[in-house]
Amino acid sequence: MKNIIIAVDGPAGAGKSTIAKIIAKKLNINYIDTGAMYRAVTLKCLQNNVDVKDEQAVIEMAKKTSIDFRDNNIYLDSKIVNDEIRTVEVSQNVSDVAKIKEVRYLMVDLQREIGKNNAVILDGRDIGSYVFPNADYKFFLVATPEERGKRRYIELKEKGYEGTLEDIINDIIRRDEIDSSREFAPLVKAEGAIEIDTTGRDINQVVELVLEKIK
Ligand code: CDP
Ligand code: CDP
Repeated sequence: MKNIIIAVDGPAGAGKSTIAKIIAKKLNINYIDTGAMYRAVTLKCLQNNVDVKDEQAVIEMAKKTSIDFRDNNIYLDSKIVNDEIRTVEVSQNVSDVAKIKEVRYLMVDLQREIGKNNAVILDGRDIGSYVFPNADYKFFLVATPEERGKRRYIELKEKGYEGTLEDIINDIIRRDEIDSSREFAPLVKAEGAIEIDTTGRDINQVVELVLEKIK
């Protein structure tokens, strides 16, 4: 397949990464979870006691960070951090890290570099609007905050999370607000993006809708 670029954007818990991973397998192309990159920088800040509100300190930390994707693993400075980046603590801090323009420049460079020589599907917030505005296909997945919160809650429960569903829904709403209102490359439906409401739809139904458009 040619160097096809597929952008999948939308708010937290809309099903972007689940759907993008399946599509990548079906089309035999690469998958890049761009949220994982912002999460990795956030994890590094937390591990080094860097206050995520201290923009300069976060930028310095991001410059010293190496992020890599190999064999479905994400590496932070050569260490696999697949689970560590998914904690509630990282989720609560990541949007403050992601709104820093200089941090975004570093991550976007990496994303564009990967897209230059590879067929790839990327999921995130600004892929269709900013990172790859000329992507071959753009999707914008949405669902109600309640459904998105429930999905995330079920995942976290399985990992021993003891907080409430309300806490998770509130965190998602708060994160969506920061992501949508930031100045640089906010969460927005890109021009030409196909919107899919995943509320009440299971994963297979959404995959089918996406594949119909790609064929
Ligand atoms: O999986 P979930 O939707 O909870 O989040 P994620 O996709 O892992 O993204 C985590 C955070 O990274 C988002 O809330 C955004 O603040 C940021 N992000 C971003 O700013 N731009 C992207 N392209 C991807 C993620
Ligand atoms: O990447 P994003 O934050 O948009 O969402 P995700 O991590 O792909 O999906 C969050 C959770 O919702 C996962 O546990 C999925 O299995 C689930 N999901 C679902 O139940 N129904 C869908 N149509 C899509 C995702």
